[in-house]
Amino acid sequence: MMRRKMLMPTVILVIFLARDVIGLDEYCYATDVDKLQTLRYGTKTAYVVAKGVMEPKDYQVPNCSPTKMWHMSRHGTRLPTKNNILKMSQLGDVRDEIVANYKVRRSQPTSGGLCLDDLNQLQTWKWNNSITPDHAEDLTFQGYEDLFYMAKNYQRIFPNIYPSTYNEQDFLFRYTNTDRTYDSYVGYINGLFGKGSENYVKDQKPIGNDTLLKPYNYCPLWIEYNKGIDNPKNNTDSESYKFEHSQWMKNMIEEVSERLGFKYTLEAELVNTMYDMCRFEQAWYVSQPSVWCAAFTPEHIKVLEYNEDIKYYYKAGYGNPLNQNQPCHAMKDMLKFLENEQSPKAVAYFTHSVMIQMFVSSLGINKDSSMKANDYPNTNRNWRISKSGPFAANIAAVSYTCPNEVEQKKVIFFLNQKPVELEGCKVGLCDWSVVTKKYGKYQNADCDKLYCSGGSGIIFSYFLMVISILTLLFNRV
Ligand SMILES: *[C@@H]1O[C@H](CO)[C@@H](O)[C@H](O)[C@H]1NC(C)=O
Ligand SMILES: *[C@@H]1O[C@H](CO)[C@@H](O)[C@H](O)[C@H]1NC(C)=O
Ligand SMILES: *[C@@H]1O[C@H](CO)[C@@H](O)[C@H](O)[C@H]1NC(C)=O
Repeated sequence: MMRRKMLMPTVILVIFLARDVIGLDEYCYATDVDKLQTLRYGTKTAYVVAKGVMEPKDYQVPNCSPTKMWHMSRHGTRLPTKNNILKMSQLGDVRDEIVANYKVRRSQPTSGGLCLDDLNQLQTWKWNNSITPDHAEDLTFQGYEDLFYMAKNYQRIFPNIYPSTYNEQDFLFRYTNTDRTYDSYVGYINGLFGKGSENYVKDQKPIGNDTLLKPYNYCPLWIEYNKGIDNPKNNTDSESYKFEHSQWMKNMIEEVSERLGFKYTLEAELVNTMYDMCRFEQAWYVSQPSVWCAAFTPEHIKVLEYNEDIKYYYKAGYGNPLNQNQPCHAMKDMLKFLENEQSPKAVAYFTHSVMIQMFVSSLGINKDSSMKANDYPNTNRNWRISKSGPFAANIAAVSYTCPNEVEQKKVIFFLNQKPVELEGCKVGLCDWSVVTKKYGKYQNADCDKLYCSGGSGIIFSYFLMVISILTLLFNRV
């Protein structure tokens, strides 16, 4: 008996160690029932994977009743950009190369290669030829359903805020100037009032610069700053550049190349196209595994996730104070709406990932005070794009009246249908005074000024650089 007891832990330990080394290497996407990395697909995370389930404990407050809801959503699952569609439509050639690597050249690695299921499914993969550049960034059917069911969910939970018969003065709907946000709005109101409701529901058309839903498009300071992030070549000091060129990324690319049977290292751009194909397909057809995801082990996905998270940390998150000021108009709009009990009972806005991430930063959700390339892999972080910017990412602020309480007005914030824990609130339930104290800065701001100020923009860094060069030159003379 004694001996057996001693032996068991050793056996378990050995199995555990072996799994750690070989388990991950032999990773098989097709047979992985959990596929936990689908929760880490960043801006391309499927909404059905990211969303909460809204249990009664999340939204029922004893002796309080919900009265109004302010809602802002990213559009649902979309098609890729024009540029991405062109690259993805060429992946059939890569598929053929990989299959030849395995079946003809026999250049697959002795361990850590694709499993047979993944290889067989890859062999039958085809690009969908109806996806052409003229449909770039259009909402997909899944994207329509993302918003349709989201609205239905909220209607079921808050029937007094979202009655199923349409009454003009109860609602305000608005979207940005794109097809995919309009189509998301249609999905949403169809979920509330039935198919065809877009024919009679009134919407609000944006006029002039849409600083409410897309402020960053009208802020030259941010546009200039963002050039350094989207074209990191002219900003090699940035943390996103550093991570993109880190050993973690290099190793990932080498390992993926080897896993697919290549005897040379693939271009970073091609690996990125495979990753995007994986994420898009997984979001379009949620219940069907995308074969391109099989190119990556869960560890590779963590590296790729960090690479995107760090980019958006600076582009739309806490990495630049300018980002927190950008949603000034939206913050003010929300506070003004929640403040009184006048109609409408619900407003719903349809916008983009960058806006939702900025709004999440204004609210102070998922905050990290810094994010550096060198932090990886010790990243016990809050900031994750799969939480703040997946497809159909949305923030709902619901006000409650509680007649028996000293402070009768309360608010619960929901991020992707999960109640948000905020400092000073009790399990997600915030007193109105706490809300106005937290966000008073926006309530009283001149948003036309504030929305585009307060950042440590790249312009400022260039300015400093020029000054220091000048100082150096003058000191030498
Ligand atoms: C191909 O794409 C079109 C356009 O997005 C879509 O309607 C169709 O269902 C897709 N077909 C398949 C087989 O996925
Ligand atoms: C609209 O935004 C542009 C910057 O994109 C700016 O130059 C222009 O002055 C803005 N117009 C108004 C009316 O604010
Ligand atoms: C950054 O690079 C892009 C293209 O590579 C270029 O068009 C742009 O002018 C550059 N910006 C600066 C500030 O150097």
